[in-house]
Amino acid sequence: MPEFTTHQVHAGESRDAAHGARVTPIYLTAGFEFDSFAQAEGRFGGDEAGYTYSRSGNPTTAALERRVAGLERGREAIAVGSGQAALTVALLGLVQAGDHILSAQSIYSGTRGLFENGLKRLGIEIEFVDDPTDLDEWRRRVRPNTRVLFGESIANPGTEILDVAGVATVAHENGLPLVVDNTLATPYLLRPGDFGADIVVHSASKYLGGHGSTLGGIVVDQGGYDWAASPFRHLTGPDEWLDGRSYVDVHGDGAYAAFARSVVASLFGPVLSPMNAFLIQQGIETLSLRVQRQSDTALAVARWLEAQPEVVRVDYAGLASHRAYGLAQRYLPRGQGAVLGFALAGGAAAAERFYDAVELFSRMTHIGDVRSLILHPASTTHGHLAADVREELGIGGGLLRLSIGLEDADDLIEDLARGLAAVAAGAAASEGAAVSASSAGDSADALPAHAFATDAAVPAAGR
Ligand SMILES: Cc1ncc(COP(=O)(O)O)c(C=O)c1O
Repeated sequence: MPEFTTHQVHAGESRDAAHGARVTPIYLTAGFEFDSFAQAEGRFGGDEAGYTYSRSGNPTTAALERRVAGLERGREAIAVGSGQAALTVALLGLVQAGDHILSAQSIYSGTRGLFENGLKRLGIEIEFVDDPTDLDEWRRRVRPNTRVLFGESIANPGTEILDVAGVATVAHENGLPLVVDNTLATPYLLRPGDFGADIVVHSASKYLGGHGSTLGGIVVDQGGYDWAASPFRHLTGPDEWLDGRSYVDVHGDGAYAAFARSVVASLFGPVLSPMNAFLIQQGIETLSLRVQRQSDTALAVARWLEAQPEVVRVDYAGLASHRAYGLAQRYLPRGQGAVLGFALAGGAAAAERFYDAVELFSRMTHIGDVRSLILHPASTTHGHLAADVREELGIGGGLLRLSIGLEDADDLIEDLARGLAAVAAGAAASEGAAVSASSAGDSADALPAHAFATDAAVPAAGR
């Protein structure tokens, strides 16, 4: 088996017999011409290999799918239009009304929204495990109608690390698959399939694409789960479209991937453009170089932040002070990723000053870019959550999230120091205002009207 760096530029490649193009061409076409009536019928019926229509398959997209399947050492991948689409396709390939999904508590806010607003409205129940490091809690909360266990290998934004092997064991004890979102780790830092995950999902918009230009998503069937022995009746039972045979009868080990591709992805239709498939594949060719460098810089930045008196907490699993440090050492020895959070003692007012003062960090909701990015989760991505849920997730008003890019570490630290200087200047100014107001007999509130509670008030548990 070739090393990762070799694989990322060669896995799944196919030669262009027509012209010898070395880079995968962009097949920007809606459909594919048939030579004859018989060929059209054969392709639709599945008796003849070949493409029909780009919503069901496209050679540029297929090249990307082969590459990601290769990097995750999976059986087959399905590429779709975004990470959200990948989660939707992965899960609707498994669950239906009346089923139950058991998820780690700390997950990306969009995935939580998909669970609570999207899937719940389809009659699918969602439950969150409070302490995902407690395997007995996972065990206790599996119900007769549970069909999927879910978690993120590195959680966004808290950087909790999933005990993939442990949770996979609980899933398999109950005959269920474990689905892992591996967006923040990428297969360079961790292959969840090596530890028993059955389906791996990516937002390719992040590190796989890597350049902040493209949205995309990938579902990988790792190939280890026995679909024939599963509780999924839509895969094991007779199907009208298959002349009364089942997906397992017709597709064997590929039953789930065939269903997820031909029923969920193709009929719900969240297609990835071949143009974007090309850009993501180009990004993947430098994945290891970027992620290694970004992780190394993130660790340097996290260590620097931890030493600053204005910072009350740093969420980065590469720090010995983080509660997931032990799991990170086990699962992520090469690096712990490039997303980190830090909480300012001055709460929301301090976070606002900091956010507005930085010059090199881009104020954006995104991660995995070559550029470094900064976000205030409590007022943006997590603004819609109830205050107690935000608190439980450690998303206080003083929390800022960073996505570390490829800039020089010293330049990034200088920019963060600029943010801290603005916080200190703001605190001094409001102290002065408070003194003059109180000497005039007034009660002055120096915080902006929209400020949140300070992080100092947020308990450490549940972060
Ligand atoms: C862990 C994780 N999963 C999924 C997504 C959704 O991806 P996309 O924005 O490509 O839909 C994100 C986006 O931030 C994410 O961080």
